[in-house]
Amino acid sequence: MISQISSFEQYQEAYNQSVTDPEGFWAEVAQNFQWRKPWKKTLEWDFATANTKWFVGGKMNITENALDRHLATRGDQAAIIWESNDPEEESITLTYKMLHQKVCQFANVLKKHGAKKGDRICIYMPMIPELAIAVLACARIGAIHSVVFGGFSAQSIADRINDAQCNIVITSDGSFRGNKEIALKSTVDDALVQCSSVQKVIVSTRTRTPVSMIKGRDVWWENEVKTVSSDCPAEEMDAEDMLFILYTSGSTGKPKGVVHTCGGYMVYATYTFANVFQYQPEQVHFCTADIGWITGHSYIVYGPLCQGATTLIFEGIPTYPDAGRFWDVIDKHKVDILYTAPTAIRSLMSFGNQFVENKDLSSLKTLGSVGEPINEEAWHWYDENIGKGKCPIVDTWWQTETGGIMISPIAGVTKTKPAYATLPLPGVQPILVDEQGNEILGNGVSGNLCIKFPWPGIIRTTYGDHERCIQTYFSTYKNLYFTGDGCMRDEDGYYRITGRVDDVMNVSGHRIGTAEVENAINMHLGVIESAVVGYPHDIKGQGIYAYVICDSQMEDQALIRKDILATVTRLIGPIAKPDKIQFVSGLPKTRSGKIMRRILRKVAEGETSNIGDTSTLLDPLVVEEIIGGAL
Ligand code: WT7
Repeated sequence: MISQISSFEQYQEAYNQSVTDPEGFWAEVAQNFQWRKPWKKTLEWDFATANTKWFVGGKMNITENALDRHLATRGDQAAIIWESNDPEEESITLTYKMLHQKVCQFANVLKKHGAKKGDRICIYMPMIPELAIAVLACARIGAIHSVVFGGFSAQSIADRINDAQCNIVITSDGSFRGNKEIALKSTVDDALVQCSSVQKVIVSTRTRTPVSMIKGRDVWWENEVKTVSSDCPAEEMDAEDMLFILYTSGSTGKPKGVVHTCGGYMVYATYTFANVFQYQPEQVHFCTADIGWITGHSYIVYGPLCQGATTLIFEGIPTYPDAGRFWDVIDKHKVDILYTAPTAIRSLMSFGNQFVENKDLSSLKTLGSVGEPINEEAWHWYDENIGKGKCPIVDTWWQTETGGIMISPIAGVTKTKPAYATLPLPGVQPILVDEQGNEILGNGVSGNLCIKFPWPGIIRTTYGDHERCIQTYFSTYKNLYFTGDGCMRDEDGYYRITGRVDDVMNVSGHRIGTAEVENAINMHLGVIESAVVGYPHDIKGQGIYAYVICDSQMEDQALIRKDILATVTRLIGPIAKPDKIQFVSGLPKTRSGKIMRRILRKVAEGETSNIGDTSTLLDPLVVEEIIGGAL
């Protein structure tokens, strides 16, 4: 097991070592895992070509580290506790022994249906134990999983399946979310009309919604597991073999398949889990993210299980049956660590304190926040009402591309400051740069956040298009990984992330590209052109504001608005629906035809006077009209 930093002096020592001797530092951490063959070289890297390799030549399987190696020491300890959407439904506990057995069994089902090392497998499931089992079963046989969040549309699934050329899809009949029942299998069916690479669909039962099963393609999970043994030796993987692909939005229209590999990701997710949250044996860790996002991959599945932790999987939503549900779950399962998003905190805060007051939250030791900047008001509410002033809050900054937490307090070790992610973890070397890429030195400064040295969890490539990886992350500034975030470093050297500096929005902690939403809106017949920006939103952090030019023939604006929302839902999913749609006759464009988003952002923020320089605009009058009609 990974040893933990337990004092600020130890943190400083570890940090210094990680900078002066990064390879020695990470080699020592990696010794705590089970390797079939040791690595020959700890690190090889070149940011110019976006090439990073950790633990070169090392052989291993992440599931041996997450499961097998715990069997002797904690086989009967809970690995997964599952809490249903419905508070009346009995929860499920899977011990390490049971989880190991189920993973091996399902891995054999995958093999039976032709899956082999290197295949890509799409997983589109609700938050049930089978989702974690499916993920681990892929890793067991060396297949590369691509989990697609259960809220995405058929079109989004199809795009992701086609990009990765998946041959198998694992799904469920449906999912429960609050008082809603959502069809999953039928959405997969719609997607697969466009996906010729898919040979098999494995369907687990959750909602018992009637589904159509296609002969020769679709099989039931429950039937299949009965036909195989539960003995499945783990495939031997190279440290740099792909473990998974996870799609994320960027500033261009098409989501990118972020690739993580087996060895470095395992070491990084586990190291950060053990240290940031200061997880102690027998504690219950509750990360409220969905496994369909990186937070769920790293801090529900891989990090906790590799550290031998008990991880809680919650199927439902924070407000069902009422806004006290998280607190009920914490009380019921005696949760020690809660890791959630500012949007959830703000939402629950808005319901008032009556949902918290009578709940027993005394089991809590550590609180975490992730996904977007946490405002001071939410930070204090979280601290006082949930942590009762005695739980450290770790505001963890990281990204899908970083694999694990990068800048964050270490619970109980780093002095916290509301709204600050505080200090880089050992192994992380952040720098701030100006627009030209010059390093901004000293404290009390702001700039664009870059990282100047590789860490084991760094993105390896964007699936099928390495050039895009170079362009997106390693070309803006020479020899630096560019995060896309703006950041300040205060007088104490503490980091505060201020938000994206590119055309990416952060809506309820979800990353959504403006171009992606524009493309979806533009698909609507009545739309000529559109421009999308984010604007400050009390609960979501950012809301989506769309400026739309419509065909003059279309007069019923209420109808077009409804149709646009339906189109976006169909093409991306409900999370990308604009909160506001303003119909305009033109957009503020420069003479070269570039939309001046700066102006649109100002108007969306409610600014009417300080719009800034509009002299380079082709038609400055359009700005007057936009301000006049602002929502
Ligand atoms: C973007 C990454 C991996 C975390 C879940 C989202 C923003 C994330 C914080 C934080 C301020 C944050 C950044 C980042 N972000 N955590 N603690 N404080 N901003 O992962 O979808 O890859 O989004 O989320 O803007 O670039 P993601």
